[in-house]
Amino acid sequence: APNISVAAVQADLAQLQSIATANGGNRAHGRPGHKASVDWIKGKLDAAGFTTRVQTFTSSGATGYNLIADLPGGDTNNILMTGGHLDSVTAGPGINDNGSGSSSILEVALAAKASGVAFTRHLRFGWWGAEELGLVGSTFYVNSLSSTEKSKIKTYLNFDMTGSPNPGYFVYSGASQPTGSVAVQQTLTGYFTSIGVQTELTEVGGRSDHAAFARAGIATGGTFSGAEVIKTAAQAAKWGGTSGTAFDRCYHRSCDTTSNINATSLDRQADAIAYTVWTLGA
Ligand code: PHE
Ligand code: ZN
Ligand code: ZN
Ligand code: ZN
Repeated sequence: APNISVAAVQADLAQLQSIATANGGNRAHGRPGHKASVDWIKGKLDAAGFTTRVQTFTSSGATGYNLIADLPGGDTNNILMTGGHLDSVTAGPGINDNGSGSSSILEVALAAKASGVAFTRHLRFGWWGAEELGLVGSTFYVNSLSSTEKSKIKTYLNFDMTGSPNPGYFVYSGASQPTGSVAVQQTLTGYFTSIGVQTELTEVGGRSDHAAFARAGIATGGTFSGAEVIKTAAQAAKWGGTSGTAFDRCYHRSCDTTSNINATSLDRQADAIAYTVWTLGA
């Protein structure tokens, strides 16, 4: 798998920050900054040769948008899907939550295309709307699929918050999720082990979009660098950073800007996503 350029991911985050700044300071569902974020990512994918589609839905009286991108090729009866939410809360620009996962997935998708690798599985990518209103966009997408289409998605990987400023390295527990995948968990942890980074398993429950796929019986996995929970002394000893402070002090706040990103976490996580897509998609 390629080493994803953290500079490219950071440039995407700067673009999402500019979009928020130009649109009232956020990229929230029903606000122009969300649609502008969708349009910008779609433009990059279209230029690279992806087949893209914007799916609309209504939530809380506003139109919401999901962006779905397919890399032509591979077995369309055996889909590996990777996604994260692109909406922010209204309080701020949502650069860690979840510009980070969104930008990393974008760079992995572009790298997959640029590599020319003939992946055995069909690769699909998704950027969900209205996650912050309760997994609305991802749930709408899953419910929009026929049972046949649903059954073709064999695995869903979710990335929501990957550049927390006081980062942890959490991998979704395969054993505890309704349809958690131990294979996905082991692929993700295996990558971090290979670069000398310890991980902890986390019971992410229904807190992000993987839950919409899990409810449909699809195998899921993902990673997370931490939100409002306080880093312990033991965690600071293995990961560095500051104990007694939140993984992300700016979680759901106006200060979740490009200053609220740990570049090492962002880089390692983007590389972990690429490794996992290459390993499981091969
Ligand atoms: N989904 C949460 C949010 O967007 C963040 C989160 C992600 C929490 C993963 C736990 C695990 O606010
Ligand atoms: Zn990298
Ligand atoms: Zn959030
Ligand atoms: Zn989130």
